[in-house]
Amino acid sequence: MFDTVIHPEADLKFTPAVAREVAPLYARVKNVVSELDWSVHAPYILEINRLKREMGAVILAHNYMTPEIFHCVSDFAGDSLQLAQQAAKTEADLIVQAGVHFMAETSKILSPQKTVLIPDMRAGCSLASSITGADVRLLREKYPNTPIVTYVNTSADVKAESDICCTSSNALKIVESLPQDQVLMIPDKYLARNIAKQTKKKILTWEGACEVHEKFTPADIKKMRKAWPDAVVLGHPECPPEVVAECDFAGSTKAMADYVTDKRPSRVVLITECSMSDNLQAANPDVKFVRPCNLCPHMQRITLPAILKSLQTRTTEVHVDAAVADRARAAVERMLAVKI
Ligand code: 13P
Ligand code: SF4
Repeated sequence: MFDTVIHPEADLKFTPAVAREVAPLYARVKNVVSELDWSVHAPYILEINRLKREMGAVILAHNYMTPEIFHCVSDFAGDSLQLAQQAAKTEADLIVQAGVHFMAETSKILSPQKTVLIPDMRAGCSLASSITGADVRLLREKYPNTPIVTYVNTSADVKAESDICCTSSNALKIVESLPQDQVLMIPDKYLARNIAKQTKKKILTWEGACEVHEKFTPADIKKMRKAWPDAVVLGHPECPPEVVAECDFAGSTKAMADYVTDKRPSRVVLITECSMSDNLQAANPDVKFVRPCNLCPHMQRITLPAILKSLQTRTTEVHVDAAVADRARAAVERMLAVKI
């Protein structure tokens, strides 16, 4: 257990000494973060990294975090599946989740003995808020013999009522791992429809959608292809199937990042949250990114000042009822046990 660590004296000025100390970090992001923006970010980055070490904390960051978080303060960054795996194996007693609430809850579910902080409790998700545990109980009554596969973008209550979880990385493998011919995939209707196109199983779903990915249209992609005929178009499976059909490749945020890193296309359009393009651009300066910019308002609540305050005040701690956590953990662990 740590005592509350507050450093009111922390000097958040951009001095030459600060600039020198964080110069190696600026080298990582200088092609996507202006010098002016860096002068604001740098003192926070220095103080967050100092405090993090002092407190023995780790920062787990989702691929949609902005570059100054993703590249400069995170200890581990990745997609939802990787973050869940990392939360389970980190030895740190204090996790700061730079991501949305369901990700912090998943970390807490997998590591109930650890303190999990989220820098802004309002960082929700339109998928997570589309369904409740009570809804899942009603689905269970209606379809008693149909297994319920629940996307990790859900609350602990919803996971607790489920047979197994999935992420966009492993959804097809999870569905295929089940013996039944009919499966309920909740709550993302688009992910479910995209998976239905790849399996012989009958997929039932729920009316949830990601408010960021549902905004993309096939016409958007056609327009971008016309403007940049050499571009490779990568999309997330939370997009509607008609949008995915227009993409060259669809996969989780990790799968899209791996595509760019491995194949190094000369120009890329990412049909997903646009901070991810900035993060990949920072790491792959030779690849040109077209950035159709749909931002997730929930992910954007996580900022450097919010992370610093979270560490300084050890807030806001994520709690999950122990009985709910046990049942939710079983669903997440069943997912982690499926070989992908
Ligand atoms: P990934 O699991 O692909 O990182 O997606 C999480 C998410 O919230 C996408 O909108
Ligand atoms: Fe939820 Fe969509 Fe934001 Fe991901 S991008 S956290 S699915 S609202």
